[in-house]
Amino acid sequence: MEKRNERIEVMNHLAVNMDDIVNKYLIPIDTNWQPSDFLPDASKETFFDEVKELQQAARELPYDYWAVLIGDMITEEALPTYESSIMVVQGVDMVHEPEGWARWTRAWTAEENRHGDLLNKYVYLSGRVNMKAVETSTQYLIADGFDIKTDDDPYKTFVYTSFQELATNISHRRTASLAKKHGNNSLSKMCAMIAADEMRHHKAYKSFITSIFEIDPSEMMIAFADMMKQKIVMPAHFLREMNGEKSGVYGHFSDAAQRLGVYTGKDYIEITELLLKDWNIATMTGLSGPAAKAQDYLMRLPERLTRLTDRIKVPELEYKFSWIN
Ligand SMILES: [Fe+2]
Ligand SMILES: [Fe+2]
Repeated sequence: MEKRNERIEVMNHLAVNMDDIVNKYLIPIDTNWQPSDFLPDASKETFFDEVKELQQAARELPYDYWAVLIGDMITEEALPTYESSIMVVQGVDMVHEPEGWARWTRAWTAEENRHGDLLNKYVYLSGRVNMKAVETSTQYLIADGFDIKTDDDPYKTFVYTSFQELATNISHRRTASLAKKHGNNSLSKMCAMIAADEMRHHKAYKSFITSIFEIDPSEMMIAFADMMKQKIVMPAHFLREMNGEKSGVYGHFSDAAQRLGVYTGKDYIEITELLLKDWNIATMTGLSGPAAKAQDYLMRLPERLTRLTDRIKVPELEYKFSWIN
């Protein structure tokens, strides 16, 4: 209980600067890009020609690419899960403090909402996708929720989001460059726009943790180590298909991402290393006994992960997704 009160106090202290936080890391809504900026306009006569062109370019993309793009899209579409899980974190209070961390959560959600919207319309127009199968997976993922083991702890939650926003930045960035490689410049642009949003979000969440380290270093260190001990699971880890088992298709999606090099075990290690560096974990002093132990664990983590990752082989076999025609 005491720990909980301390967490809420730290969160309230940081929320005093909510105007600055929102202005620094999010884009004013009126000037932000919207999905329709990148899609054929159905009110124009040129619409059908543009769709034809879009579909021709879509034919050049390989099977694994579709698996990854659709999996990424479904992950983005499960935003209700992410917003609702942050809304119940200690120090986020939509009822009593709607202009504090609840405001950040709403504004971040509003930006994120464009990602699934854009990708959904693209895959629909591409003609390559069984939309009903995809929509069923999306409904399942939202209904199944996720289990990311952050509890309602703001420290763990912001470690998770710092990590995850960078992971999504990397994967959208890579789907952008692959699209370009296959001559699909318009899809490349879409993925790149999304990737840029994710990078801003990553910087925001990372700065929240930096501020918490300044106020409550020992507890923050322990929370960071706790999160890394149980591994950062991907938000779509319950991904399934129609009539399928919970999590049944997640492994196939992540295998496709590894085969394509869009998101790999190596990326997990590099994100970990970057967070260790940016939060100055190595040089932090004045920690409690348990926090110093947590620091030790964290500093050894990249080497341990490298040993484990070297042993993992990615299955070569492509899986037949119900999503892809
Ligand atoms: Fe996103
Ligand atoms: Fe994001």
